[in-house]
Amino acid sequence: MRREIYVPPGGPPRVERPDPAIYAIMGEEAIFAMLEDFYVELGQSEVADMFPQSPEGLRAASHRSAAFFVGLLGGPPLYQMRFGNPAMRARHMPFAIDEAARQEWLACFNRVLIDAPVRYNFPAEHLPGFRAFLDGFSGWMVNTGPES
Ligand code: HEM
Repeated sequence: MRREIYVPPGGPPRVERPDPAIYAIMGEEAIFAMLEDFYVELGQSEVADMFPQSPEGLRAASHRSAAFFVGLLGGPPLYQMRFGNPAMRARHMPFAIDEAARQEWLACFNRVLIDAPVRYNFPAEHLPGFRAFLDGFSGWMVNTGPES
């Protein structure tokens, strides 16, 4: 079946990067732990079928994402060092991501962020900026329209 690729009309998002103080405060280990827990949420969500089905597979996938988030939050560019150019929209193209899938993905992240200051030492004052980044950037991962 031919798939119509949806391009968000605003183009690439103009979102502010999260504050680099986040990495300075959390460190690499806590960011990896946060992403592991996020992937556990994804594995139990409405979009679970897009992700690896085994716990080990989910854990391995979470580590690729965590490498990206370490750099994004102000740490070393682990993702680029391990996997090359992030080209995030292109890397998401194999998956049909519509607005409903994006909302579900954000809901999973939100569940993890609620306790993030206590569980992963996420600096609470930087949560609003991080949420705004996730909201804006995830819009650019949408590649499938509502009626595809
Ligand atoms: C702020 C927005 C997002 C960021 C920064 C992000 C980041 C990433 C990263 C770094 C990877 C790993 C790529 C690799 O394997 O090298 C990934 C994989 C993936 N992402 Fe996203 N993502 C975002 C939004 C979304 C959304 C909205 C969905 C929709 C459900 C999604 C679904 C996936 C899937 C299915 C994979 C592949 C998982 C696997 O390894 O099997 N992502 N994402």
